Amino acid sequence: MGKLSVNYLGLALKSPLIVSSSRLTSTLGSIKEAEDSGAGAVVLKSLFEEQINQYINTMQPTHSYPEADDYTSFYIKSHSVEEYLTLIRRAKELISIPVIPSINCYTSEGWTGFAKNIQDAGADALEINVFFLPTDRKKSSAEAEKVYFDLIEKLKKTITIPVAIKIGYRFSNILYMIDQFYMRKVNGVVMFNRFYEPDIDINKLDIIPASIFSNENERRMVLRWIGMASAQDIKIDISASTGVHSGADAVRYLLAGANSVQVCSVLYDKGIPFLKKMNSQIETWMDNNGFASIGDFRGKLNYRNYKKPIVFERTQFMKYFSSED
Ligand SMILES: Cc1cc2nc3c(=O)[nH]c(=O)nc-3n(C[C@H](O)[C@H](O)[C@H](O)COP(=O)(O)O)c2cc1C
Repeated sequence: MGKLSVNYLGLALKSPLIVSSSRLTSTLGSIKEAEDSGAGAVVLKSLFEEQINQYINTMQPTHSYPEADDYTSFYIKSHSVEEYLTLIRRAKELISIPVIPSINCYTSEGWTGFAKNIQDAGADALEINVFFLPTDRKKSSAEAEKVYFDLIEKLKKTITIPVAIKIGYRFSNILYMIDQFYMRKVNGVVMFNRFYEPDIDINKLDIIPASIFSNENERRMVLRWIGMASAQDIKIDISASTGVHSGADAVRYLLAGANSVQVCSVLYDKGIPFLKKMNSQIETWMDNNGFASIGDFRGKLNYRNYKKPIVFERTQFMKYFSSED
């Protein structure tokens, strides 16, 4: 393995850069391009829990005849699930880097048994992208968190390949959640997903989608939590996601303690081959700083290793409000 090699979810990656789940990983052509451009692994575009549940229902021989329109939608959904399994099989034949399928899910009902089909198709690991927006003010955060735990427990009973959970950062206590994932034998946590958010067009007086692509400033929401999570005394891998637009950004997350770094928006902007440049930027930085391997500097600036860990805890702008510091 070369000097950019890392271990993530027990898989040997030749680069810490992973192309994250999106349309960029939805075809064999783009997946091959990712490998040729130096990606360490690919996370396939997500399959939705609803698609899987529809698929399971259409497979039931006792199911009553659906109406024609429903039938069409059922067919399309089952078809896309079959296509997804084919994509995994073909990707495994075509490329040698790890192939990590992804499922968007928000309940533990129905779909989890299907993960076995993904494993049987040859997946190296599974990433689950779990999120549901709490919209019920009567529902406690503990109830919401339990959904994550139930789901993981069911999944871990179904499959033996490594599981990574992709989460958002809106938890009362992220470190508690990660600890609970670890206790349930989750192998990795992807920090963090970036969600569809609404915006307002004041000229049209309408709700419009906010930009789906990230910028580098969004790193600020991620760095602290990677620095804190990687310093915990637990063996759970971390994959950074959101705001990685250059090799330097990847280095920042690795210094904070990430095991791998996922890349999406910048590749929509600059094309998948930009990964080559990012890898060479990381190598140049390592050469300039005397690091022979990623392991030599990974986590060097996390909460445990940094000389003033208090900076990770600081949330208020003391410097601007007082004469001290
Ligand atoms: C167009 C687009 C489609 C995406 N689709 C998915 C998806 O299907 N599943 C998923 O887990 N994340 C999806 N994401 C989120 C990305 O995988 C990634 O986590 C997010 O964009 C943050 O990374 P970035 O800052 O490098 O863009 C998508 C992002 C974009 C921009």
